[in-house]
Amino acid sequence: MKQIKLPTHLALIMDGNGRWAKRRFRPRAYGHRMGVQNMFRICTHAFRLGVRIVTVYALSTENLFRPKEELNELFDLIRSYFTKKKDKLLEMGVKVNVIGDITVFPPDIRESVLNVMDETKALTEGLFNICLDYGSRQEIVRAVNIAVSQGRFVDEASFSALLSTGSLPDPDLIIRTGGELRLSNFLLYQAAYSELYFSNKMWPEFSKRDLEKAIENYSARDRRFGNVREGTT
Ligand code: IPE
Ligand code: IPE
Ligand code: MG
Repeated sequence: MKQIKLPTHLALIMDGNGRWAKRRFRPRAYGHRMGVQNMFRICTHAFRLGVRIVTVYALSTENLFRPKEELNELFDLIRSYFTKKKDKLLEMGVKVNVIGDITVFPPDIRESVLNVMDETKALTEGLFNICLDYGSRQEIVRAVNIAVSQGRFVDEASFSALLSTGSLPDPDLIIRTGGELRLSNFLLYQAAYSELYFSNKMWPEFSKRDLEKAIENYSARDRRFGNVREGTT
């Protein structure tokens, strides 16, 4: 890859697993399984390229309204990657942090999530945030309620700190696969100045080269943050 400006914080909306499977006449669960495999492939590649923070949208709060059968399959996948397949997570060599309301998960999943977070907490090479049962509006409302309950006013910095991304820098680049042009309740506050990149590829078929292309595209963008650049008219 040619010399480019990397995002410090890359966020991924991994959409399209179900449609990808359907096109292959396979059940949606197969799409989710291949989607998780691709998550490891793509995120490992991102860290290898030098990205420091990767945040993936793996399950939204609204996704919990899907049919029970699909949810059971999603829960089984989560369980498996935090227990018997947890080496896949540990192999990445980065700190794993789960963002979202994990209290909705059965106790064994909650425990194994906390266990992986604890096992990787000292790793400083990179940070891998996995959003599970995450909803940005819910996160904002929760932050407001914390501030109110403490009887304090907030400013932008202290409000950001109350969000589940805490002191992390905002995402520089958000990539959404699956062809939809929306954020679907993902990092709404944090995305104020994120660069957005949409791919028509379904998540399981989004390749390392596709990631590089998205980063190259990001690298060529002019981020003005509302200001003007020297030399522009
Ligand atoms: C994204 O894929 C993964 C989750 C939301 C869990 P989808 O399951 O939304 O796949 P499509 O969008 O229906 O193809
Ligand atoms: C967004 O995809 C959530 C994740 C990728 C986890 P959805 O499939 O839930 O989004 P909508 O329903 O198309 O907006
Ligand atoms: Mg979808």
